[in-house]
Amino acid sequence: MDKILVLDFGGQYNLLIARRVRNLNVYAEVKSYDAVTVEDIKKEGYGGIILTGGPNSVNDPASPTFSPGLLDAGIPILGICYGHQLLAKLAGGAVSAGAVGEYGSCGVEITAPIDLFDGIPATFNSFMSHHDCVTALPEGFRGAARTANIEYAAMFDPERRICGVQFHPEVTHTEFGTEILRNFLFKICGLTADWRMDDFMEKTITELREKLDGRNVLLGLSGGVDSSVLAALLYKAVGDRLRCVFVDHGLLRKDEGDLVEKAFMNTFGMSIIRVDAAKIFLDRLKGVTEPEKKRKIIGEEFIRIFEAEAMKAGEIDYLAQGTIYPDVVESGGGKASVIKSHHNVGGLPVNIKFKGIVEPLRTLFKDEVRELGRRLGLPDQYVKRQPFPGPGLAVRIIGEITGAKLKVLKEADAIMREELIASLPDPALPDQYFAVLTDTRSVGVMGDERTYGYTIALRAVDTDDFMTCSFTRIPYEVLERVSGRITNEIKGVTRVVYDVTSKPPATVEWE
Ligand code: XMP
Repeated sequence: MDKILVLDFGGQYNLLIARRVRNLNVYAEVKSYDAVTVEDIKKEGYGGIILTGGPNSVNDPASPTFSPGLLDAGIPILGICYGHQLLAKLAGGAVSAGAVGEYGSCGVEITAPIDLFDGIPATFNSFMSHHDCVTALPEGFRGAARTANIEYAAMFDPERRICGVQFHPEVTHTEFGTEILRNFLFKICGLTADWRMDDFMEKTITELREKLDGRNVLLGLSGGVDSSVLAALLYKAVGDRLRCVFVDHGLLRKDEGDLVEKAFMNTFGMSIIRVDAAKIFLDRLKGVTEPEKKRKIIGEEFIRIFEAEAMKAGEIDYLAQGTIYPDVVESGGGKASVIKSHHNVGGLPVNIKFKGIVEPLRTLFKDEVRELGRRLGLPDQYVKRQPFPGPGLAVRIIGEITGAKLKVLKEADAIMREELIASLPDPALPDQYFAVLTDTRSVGVMGDERTYGYTIALRAVDTDDFMTCSFTRIPYEVLERVSGRITNEIKGVTRVVYDVTSKPPATVEWE
């Protein structure tokens, strides 16, 4: 199978590049620039390399760099933004701080008909985010595009099949970005589009059958899409030798625990061990207000309960984990800094003896996991569910978590989901939408009475990858209906507000 290496220099779009490539049916891997050498890259047999953007200046001696030998490895290269400037520098050109930076939408004019721009109009809009620019081309390169401010918005060395672009073809704001990536993969690298989910599924099931022959496997089902798809995959591979433990921490959305249990029973006739641990979690979270502490407590408690149940499930040979590719890259593979501790990776049980771990989804992106789930037969409505954080509603209740607050939030969240699903056609639904119980009380009036109650915040975002997002422009009438129902139907809520921040600077979840 052909594959692409995305060499990561700390850009925020590193994973997005890999996803775009995979969407074009070519397998792509992300590796940090300091984790591989030219020799490793040659040995792995990559058919092409993409150098990502990054926040640094290539002229800063401490900035990330790479051996110039990469340019002579005989592998086609595409440099994006910082990657474009790095190529220029490594090949002997010059990069300087431009007179003006270019941030956001920017017109590009093609100046030479290179393969990368095959079939693309002479002018198009691109997304730029840079201050430095290439000011002198290296030997062997020719300029291929310019903007109003920079002469070399793109360059190409036809001999070594190396090209660079100052803009970001991977973001949807760049017109013809997909065509540019497609041209790189197929016209410049000459790759075959042979990354297919059906092949992945068949191959993985066969491998799991061989590896887990006669063995018992334990899986912690969280109710989220990843562990559910993993359960379906493992069930196909090993049948009843899969023991699924579903720890219901009581922090799931309204009725969600039952939905998870039914989905597996009805679709596959599979039984899962459900542990009702709501009280234990509430006790452990008593008095805790600090977000990271909440996350840690939930992560640890989850593992302890899971461990205790697993002990009862008989002899276990393997532990299955629903780790997916962004978890792998974000937990050290890539360069981006940790903003919140997600508890999907790293929290392994210590007291259960098992021979090994299986993580069959660790090369997949979220949209690929959903596609796999669909192919495995999980109901569409189940696979399409919006993402839900491991620590659940705990990170949507600001301040201390109590049973009463949980009840209020579950109802408010259910109303919001119900109204949005009823009012918006499926494609217009936000990628994630939920209610948050803020720690702010406010004064209201009901009948002739003064009230003093909770403030609910509504959050809805549109995003491609959850690394960045913008708040959804929900029609006012829909917001009005949600607000009206929440304040009328839930006792103790006096006010509803809508969160209009994007990420960055905010994150999707409030904690
Ligand atoms: P943030 O809040 O970091 O969220 O902008 C980005 C996406 O990740 C989800 N999220 C989590 N998922 N465990 C998870 O499995 C977690 O601890 C966690 N925290 C946030 C969030 O819902 C959003 O989709």
